[in-house]
Amino acid sequence: MFNFSYQNPTRIVFGDGQISQLGQLIPAGSRVLLTYGGGSIKQNGVYQQVMDALKSHQVLEFSGIEPNPGYETLSKAVALVKAERIDFILAVGGGSVVDGSKYIAAAALLEQDGWAILEKKARIKAALPLGCVLTLPATGTESNANAVITRQSTQQKLAFSHPSVYPQFAILDPKVTYSLPAKQISNGVVDAFVHVMEQYLTYPVNAAVQDRFAESLLQVLIEEGPKALNEPENYDVRANVMWAATMALNGLIGVGVPQDWATHGLGHQLTALYGLDHAQTLAIVLPALMQQQRATKRDKLLQYASRVWGLQQQDPERQIDEAISYTRAFFEQMGVPTRLTAYGLPASSVDELMAKVMAQGMAKLGEHGDINYNVSRAIFTAAV
Ligand code: NZQ
Ligand code: ZN
Repeated sequence: MFNFSYQNPTRIVFGDGQISQLGQLIPAGSRVLLTYGGGSIKQNGVYQQVMDALKSHQVLEFSGIEPNPGYETLSKAVALVKAERIDFILAVGGGSVVDGSKYIAAAALLEQDGWAILEKKARIKAALPLGCVLTLPATGTESNANAVITRQSTQQKLAFSHPSVYPQFAILDPKVTYSLPAKQISNGVVDAFVHVMEQYLTYPVNAAVQDRFAESLLQVLIEEGPKALNEPENYDVRANVMWAATMALNGLIGVGVPQDWATHGLGHQLTALYGLDHAQTLAIVLPALMQQQRATKRDKLLQYASRVWGLQQQDPERQIDEAISYTRAFFEQMGVPTRLTAYGLPASSVDELMAKVMAQGMAKLGEHGDINYNVSRAIFTAAV
């Protein structure tokens, strides 16, 4: 196991009815900016629960943060925060609202324009405090330090990470997920699954705790994911999916182990160019990447095949083939297609994608830095 230092400062407040805790979680006297998306929280009653809980606080609102949150929209919120001297941000929504709010919190305290954070031209020193009410289990953003922001005008989707944007708290009420369209539940389960894979499917470093935790999270998602689609109001199923998604990317299973993240890096280009949902891009890239990298990931692929899927064939190559097909079949079972063509993208899109990958300088992806442009091209080609 590698050396590591781990601290996750986000308080998790989990369970039915817990939005009522908001009044105690946000310091009295704060000037709060409530940020949200396209209005789902108004239809499912979450907005009302939040406002009821914040009766004694001053609350301003910023709505309209879109999926794959846009720099252009968020810049308006940054201006509002500065003009209104906001001192606490409350994000209510899915990963896009929370990520967008992390950007707002950091950009509001920056002298130059916030896009410099994404281009790595400005260093974050501090951010406004933020908390969240998560409505879509998927990204893990509710208790991590990451955010992914899209700039429509240049078709760029870039990420940043800084400890100052860990949410101070995250309220996770599984009931607020009942109103999710099936497609978003599918996306969430696939995203969480791939988060575990990015931190697990690399090479062994004798990190038994991280490995067994990761394998258990994968199994929970395999077992509960389809149930979440078939029994949309099963509280226990939703609770397990929600907690699994948080645990998948709160840093815990990633400490002391190598990490990959090439599936995400390549997947972001698919969203930037064609607007595919984040999880759709992962379902396309991961099976192709597993196949392409089967030699360097061999030991972990065999461990995954046996411990997660119970595949015990004599022939290791067949075991790996089956583990890859089972993974693909799981995504398909969750209703997320795994081929570019299934989204109407022809083979020629590989060239466009590669131009994007090269423009971002993504020449050394993966846990060994060996996913160069040729390998990325092979992965996209295999995903057609
Ligand atoms: O905008 P509203 O009206 O709220 O509707 C949203 C949106 O249309 C809807 N929704 C959310 N909760 C709902 C609901 N509809 C009904 N009932 C509810 N309870 O769902 C739609 C999608 O929401 P979005 O926030 O975009 O989805 P998700 O949580 O999957 O977030 C995706 C974003 O997170 C980034 C992705 O790249 C993408 O931009 N990621 C962030 C990560 C992080 N910060 O650590 C890691 C991930 O790998 C990922 O990259
Ligand atoms: Zn993801």
